[in-house]
Amino acid sequence: MLNGPMAERAKDPSFSPIYGAPAMIFVSAERDNELAVFDATLVMANMFNAARSIGIGSCWLFLFGRLADSPEAKAVYSKIGVPENYKVVAGACFGYPAGEWPQPREKKTDNVNYVL
Ligand SMILES: Cc1cc2nc3c(=O)[nH]c(=O)nc-3n(C[C@H](O)[C@H](O)[C@H](O)COP(=O)(O)O)c2cc1C
Repeated sequence: MLNGPMAERAKDPSFSPIYGAPAMIFVSAERDNELAVFDATLVMANMFNAARSIGIGSCWLFLFGRLADSPEAKAVYSKIGVPENYKVVAGACFGYPAGEWPQPREKKTDNVNYVL
């Protein structure tokens, strides 16, 4: 169950945790797969890059994985076809951005150690 500041925000009917996006993608993996988080992260990152290359924006949404084992989320995930022995690891929203793309941030140059 959702609690804390997010639960408070969710009471506002105009609040959209998915930024009004028209599509969500969930990545699930077998519960006993100890590499699931890593695999799911790679899958998501590839989808983010692919989406961006065709002008579609995206945002990883922490809560959809975090709450994956709550009875409410399990009921929804089961309805959309996530098998019982799978767990939703990651969820992200996708859609055409309503505004401008953000400018890339200045590149850090001091956070890579080269070992020769
Ligand atoms: C594991 C993970 C969970 C995230 N969860 C959320 C989230 O719940 N809501 C949100 O708006 N952004 C979420 N993000 C997106 C980050 O806030 C951020 O926009 C993204 O990592 C891109 O970072 P940058 O463009 O600031 O470098 C998440 C990112 C990651 C990697």
